[in-house]
Amino acid sequence: MKVLTVANRKGGAGKSTCAAHLALEATRAGMRVILIDMDPQKTLENWWNKREEENPFLIDVVASDLRTTIHDLETNNLDLCIVDTPGDASMNAVVGIEVADLILIPTKPTAPDLTAIGRTISMVEDNNKKFCFVITQGINRAKSTLQAASVLSQFGPLAPSVISNRISYANAMGQGDSAVLLDKSAEVEIQEVWSFVSNMLFKKNSNNKKKMVI
Ligand SMILES: Nc1ncnc2c1ncn2[C@@H]1O[C@H](COP(=O)(O)OP(=O)(O)O)[C@@H](O)[C@H]1O
Ligand SMILES: [Mg+2]
Repeated sequence: MKVLTVANRKGGAGKSTCAAHLALEATRAGMRVILIDMDPQKTLENWWNKREEENPFLIDVVASDLRTTIHDLETNNLDLCIVDTPGDASMNAVVGIEVADLILIPTKPTAPDLTAIGRTISMVEDNNKKFCFVITQGINRAKSTLQAASVLSQFGPLAPSVISNRISYANAMGQGDSAVLLDKSAEVEIQEVWSFVSNMLFKKNSNNKKKMVI
């Protein structure tokens, strides 16, 4: 089981929306997924509570138990654990980063969000974690989006598609659903972001292959 943590020290960046949509995309790809919502605001858990299907699953965990719980989940035949974190530097956010195999940092393409991104990157780098970005709530090919893409790609890998500002995403969060079901453009975006994230999470690095000893 791989652990994908969604983090950004800024609130409203689109973390919970990304977590929910990528979770459903993973289940559409046939994976068994479990969600852990470390944010006391419980946006992801509220979304999940509106759902009927059991996959993605969800488990309530307190910060001090997160590491042990994730270890115990390894025996449950799960493919992916998605951890949503609060937009701050609290214990809940820090442990969420500590347990991750990959950190996804959703970012709005605005000056205040880009100025603040350094604090999130430091938090992730302090823990020596692999990370990547996705631009959210942007307008495709708008100047602000292109500028954000150029800034972010200097710091790390950036998802090839923006998660655009679409009412379908906000509606889906209110209904326990995914925007991809009703919105073809959202479907294309989420598929591209999922494909990028899942490649980073699951693709075996050929450099890690064991060399034959003669
Ligand atoms: N791509 C998007 N398009 C439109 N609205 C969005 C999008 N992503 C997030 N939102 C809205 O922005 C607000 C903050 O999103 P959320 O995912 O809860 O951010 P965070 O978890 O980082 O605080 C919510 O009202 C959500 O519905
Ligand atoms: Mg949130």
